[in-house]
Amino acid sequence: MGKVYVFDHPLIQHKLTYIRSTETGTKQFRELVEEVAMLMAYEATRDLPLEETTIQTPVATATTKVLAGKKLGIVPILRAGLGMVDGILNLIPSAKVGHIGLYRDPETLQPVEYYCKLPTDLEERDLITVDPMLATGGSAAAAITFMKQRGAKNIKLMCLIAAPEGIETVQQAHPDVDIYVAAVDECLNDHGYITPGLGDAGDRLFGTK
Ligand code: URA
Repeated sequence: MGKVYVFDHPLIQHKLTYIRSTETGTKQFRELVEEVAMLMAYEATRDLPLEETTIQTPVATATTKVLAGKKLGIVPILRAGLGMVDGILNLIPSAKVGHIGLYRDPETLQPVEYYCKLPTDLEERDLITVDPMLATGGSAAAAITFMKQRGAKNIKLMCLIAAPEGIETVQQAHPDVDIYVAAVDECLNDHGYITPGLGDAGDRLFGTK
C-alpha cells in the first residue's frame, strides 16, 4: 500500500490557512499555492539519490554530493494542477512537464482523457503528479492509470488537501503510489467539495466562477 505523507511543516500549515480563507484574493492565492508547492516538493524529494563528486573550492579540493542524475517529471492534472507547477520548477528547473486533461463523462461518470502530452522518456523519470485537491480521487487515479499505460513506472501524487475518500481510491487503484499532502480534511460534501477545503481550486487560481 502506498504511504500517505502529511507535511506538518509550520510554513506549509501557515500558508495553507491563508489559501483556505475566503479573504484571500486571486493574486495572493496563486502565489501561496506556488509557495506551498515548492515547500512540498522540497519535502517530497528527500529520497532522491546522491552521488559523490570532486570539486575545487577557492580553498581546497572537496569531495561533495550532487543529485545522481535522476530525471524528474511534473504532471499537472488540468486545470488546477497548473497552479503547482512553477513552485516545483523553482526547485527543480530541469524537470520536464507533462499535462493531462480529464473530464467526467456525464453518462458513465467515468473520467475521459481529452488531453495528454507527456515526456517521451516517461519510463526513465521519477514523476510527480500534481492536483491541489484530492476529492473523490477519480481523476487522480485515472491520470495515474493513463501515465502507466504510456510507460510511467515511478509515480508520486502531490496535493494540497485530500479527502479520506480520495486517498482510499488512489491507494486501492495504485498501491505503488505514495501520496503527499499538506492536510487531510474531514470529508466531501454533497456537491463533491472537500470540507472545509478551500472551494474550487481552479476558479480561485484563475479568477473564474
Ligand atoms: N475540486 C476542487 O477544486 N475543490 C474541491 O473541494 C473538490 C474538488
